[in-house]
Amino acid sequence: MKKRTILIDCDPGIDDAIALLMAFAAPELDVVGITSVGGNVGLEATTRNALALATLAGRRVPVARGMDLALIAETKRAESVHGTDGLGGVRLPEPSYAEEKATAWEFIRDRAADFPGELEIVAIGPLSNVAMALSAYPETRRRIKAIHLMGGSAGAGNATPAAEFNIFADPHAAAAVFQSGVPITMFGLDVTNRANLSPAGLEAIRVIGGRVIAPSCAMLDHYLTAYRHFGRDTLALHDPLVVAWLVDPSLVTLKPYFVDVETDGRYTTGKTVVDVHGILKRPPNAMVGVELDSGRFVALMTKLLRSYDEPGAVIAPGAGR
Ligand code: RIB
Ligand code: CA
Repeated sequence: MKKRTILIDCDPGIDDAIALLMAFAAPELDVVGITSVGGNVGLEATTRNALALATLAGRRVPVARGMDLALIAETKRAESVHGTDGLGGVRLPEPSYAEEKATAWEFIRDRAADFPGELEIVAIGPLSNVAMALSAYPETRRRIKAIHLMGGSAGAGNATPAAEFNIFADPHAAAAVFQSGVPITMFGLDVTNRANLSPAGLEAIRVIGGRVIAPSCAMLDHYLTAYRHFGRDTLALHDPLVVAWLVDPSLVTLKPYFVDVETDGRYTTGKTVVDVHGILKRPPNAMVGVELDSGRFVALMTKLLRSYDEPGAVIAPGAGR
């Protein structure tokens, strides 16, 4: 089986953390790099968290830091959901290796040159780094096979009534990515809000136990507390859905639509305008998730997280609160 060669651009962040741990465990995926971006929390924390999560997984995937802030938009953070450290206060192993010296966009450029036509970017935070790489290096636009992003929605937002957090955090970068001509798969709130884990489902995972499941459930406990504060009693696992789809594309139904990003609206800045009826008569520039099989998603996530404790799994330092 030919593995998919992926680079994950992320802002860990609790759901990013689960997505990374799933990706490291998936035999279908070859994670050749991670780039960190400011988003849920600041860049220092997202970079440290990415290194710590790879260490927990027993991996030494190169990590390159990128943008802490958007070029133009005001800074947005989501510490109310992810905690000030980004992982809900859960202590992970100290990173066993250092980050790259290259910037995130230089690293994306170099990895695209290493794997021309093969590299798939998994973008699960604000798109500042990806936009920088595409804008600075035309050759990189040609070499990247696809960008699979968690962001946006055809319907309501979560950061504002209109905008989803990743897009709202850097709408200009998001617009540049959607206009870049690189093939895009968009996993918006329309599907990620249905990538649900109930409190009972979380307990069913916790009782399995294990050196990755234990800290993962501790992080999800914090995530659930935050969700309950906002009146929801079920977790939306936004970023993990993208990784699950990479492993099993049958999980999500995609449709081709023209998508662009509002960058200057009083109430709508950061809104992904998804032309579901083709009114603008613009050619589709994204495959957009419209349906998913939530039950199979949770089963796959559980399978990947528990695989760390199966015979032959790579051993890594323990972790816990
Ligand atoms: O809106 C959900 C997205 O914003 C996820 O990527 C989450 O990690 C936050 O970054
Ligand atoms: Ca994220």
